[in-house]
Amino acid sequence: MADLERTGRSWLTDAVIYGIYPQSFQDSNGDGIGDLRGVIDRLDYIVSLGVDAIWFNPCFVSPFHDAGYDVADYLRIAPRYGTNDDLVELVEKAGQRGIRILLDLVVGHTSIEHEWFRTELAADGPHPEGDRYIWRTDEPERGWESDLPGTPQWVRSPGPRQGWYLKNFYDEQPALNFGWVRTDPAQPWRDPVDGPGPKRNRQALKEILDFWLSKGVAGFRVDMAFSLVKDEGLRDGVLASAAIWQELREWLDDAYPDAVLIPEGEEPRTGARLAFDADFMLVIYAPHASLFDNHSAGRLPWHEPRPAFFDAAGEGSTELFLDTWAHLREVDPQRSILLATADHDFTRLRSGRAPEELGAALTFLFTWGSVPSLYYGDEIGMRYLPDLPNVEGAICSPLYNRAGCRTPMQWDDGPNAGFSAAPADSLYLPIDPDPDRPTVAAQDGVPGSTLTLVRELLALRRRTPALQGQAPTTVVNPGYPFAWLRGEDHLVVVNPRREPATLETDQAEGMEVLFGSGCDVTGDRIELDGFGYGILGRSR
Ligand code: BGC
Repeated sequence: MADLERTGRSWLTDAVIYGIYPQSFQDSNGDGIGDLRGVIDRLDYIVSLGVDAIWFNPCFVSPFHDAGYDVADYLRIAPRYGTNDDLVELVEKAGQRGIRILLDLVVGHTSIEHEWFRTELAADGPHPEGDRYIWRTDEPERGWESDLPGTPQWVRSPGPRQGWYLKNFYDEQPALNFGWVRTDPAQPWRDPVDGPGPKRNRQALKEILDFWLSKGVAGFRVDMAFSLVKDEGLRDGVLASAAIWQELREWLDDAYPDAVLIPEGEEPRTGARLAFDADFMLVIYAPHASLFDNHSAGRLPWHEPRPAFFDAAGEGSTELFLDTWAHLREVDPQRSILLATADHDFTRLRSGRAPEELGAALTFLFTWGSVPSLYYGDEIGMRYLPDLPNVEGAICSPLYNRAGCRTPMQWDDGPNAGFSAAPADSLYLPIDPDPDRPTVAAQDGVPGSTLTLVRELLALRRRTPALQGQAPTTVVNPGYPFAWLRGEDHLVVVNPRREPATLETDQAEGMEVLFGSGCDVTGDRIELDGFGYGILGRSR
C-alpha cells in the first residue's frame, strides 16, 4: 500500500498516477455516464494496480462544451458525477487505501455559463471593481492571434454587452483576465497584471484552492498553467504567469504546505523559486510523440511526422526524447518529470501496437526516472477508436478527434462491458465493438496479460527504490535495444522492434534478469527477442 504517512510533497517523487476521465470509468446509476460513486466502487481495483494517486479530468459543474474544461462553478461537483459529499467520501475512502486525489484546475478560462461571465455579459460596461474577462469595444485587427485551436482569439459578444471578448480555446471558454505585461493606452483592455480585475481573479484562485484542499484533496493538475497572462511575446506572458503561481505557492506554503501543483507543461526557470512540483512531459509534446507516435487522434500543426521509436518497424530514434530529458535534468536535477502512457487528448498507448508490443513500452514508462501517469484502460491495452462522433467538443479540427481515447472502461463481458446498465445507445461514447476487446475480467490474474504485467512492474518498482523517481537514470545504449542504468545496480533493456537485438556492455557483467520476457544475459552480452524486455540486477 502507498504511504500516506509521508507528509510534505516528496511523495510525488516516487508516485505513480492513475488518470481517470470521469465520464468513462464506471457508471453507478445507469445514466450512461461515469460518476464518483462508480469510482468509489472500483477503489479496490485501482489499489490493485499499485498506483498512489488519481488525477481526475475536471468534474465540476459545466455545460460540457469541452468535456468539463469549461467550468461553470468551480465549487460544485457536476450533478451527473454526484455531489461534493461524494467527493469527500472518495477522498476519505481512497485515503484509507493509500491513494491521494488530484483534481484538474482549469483557471485560464471559464465557461460562458459561469456566473462571472453572465454578469459581465449582462452589464453595459466594465465592472466597477474590474473586469474578470478581457473585453474590447473596437473591432479586433487581424494578425497577432493565430487560428490554431487553443490560442486566444476575439469572439463577438452575443450581448447585451457590446464588443468582443477574448477566448482561450473554444468560443464557449472566455479567457479570465490575469492582465498583460505590455499595457497601451490605445488598447484599454490591456489591464496591468496588478490591475483590479486580475487581482479579483487571483483572489478567486486562492478561494478555489482553499475550498478543495480543505476537503482533503492532495493537489491539482493545472490546465494551461502558463497561459494566464496574455501577451504577443509569448515568453513575457509565460514568465508573468509563472510569477502568479509563485505568489500562490507562497500562500500555499502557509495554508497547505502539502498541496502539490502539477502544471500542464514545463515550468519556465526564472531564477525565482519554482511554484510547481513537477514538469509534465505531456503526450502533447514532440519528445513523447517521437517515442510513441500518439497522434493517430490527429496531427497538430507543430508535430513533425517521424517514425516512433516504440514501433515494430524499428526505424525510430530516442534522440529528441533524450536531448529534452538531458536538458530538463541539467536545469534542475531533482525535479520530478511526469511521463504519461496517454491522456484524454491523445491516442492510447495500444494504438498501432499489438498487445505483445506493450511490454517494452510499459517497462520503459514504469522504470524510467520519472513519475509515470497511467491513463485508465491502458493497463489492459484498450484501443483508440477512430471516427467517433463529436461528443462534448472532442473534435478540435477535422484531423483531431479526441473521442477515441475517451471511450468507456472495459471491465467484463457483461452488458456495456460492465461500464453501465444504460441502453447501449445512451452511453457517453460507444464501447469498443471488437468482440475480442480487452477486459479487466479476462486479464485479471492471467500470467502474461497486460494487466498482470502492469501490476508486476508497478509492484517491482514499489519495492525497488532504484527503479523509482529519484535514482539516477544513465543511458547505456540509445538505440535498439534501448538500455539504461537505474542507480548503480539495475539495468533495464527494451527492444520495441520486431527484429531481435543484442547489446554487449560491461554493465551487464554479474547481472541476472530479475524480471522480463524474451531477454537473456550471459556475461556482458544481452540478447533480446523482438518486443523483449528485461530488468537486470546484480546476482549475489
Ligand atoms: C486540456 C484539453 C482542453 C484544453 C482547454 C487542455 O489542456 O487537456 O482537454 O480542451 O486544455 O481547456
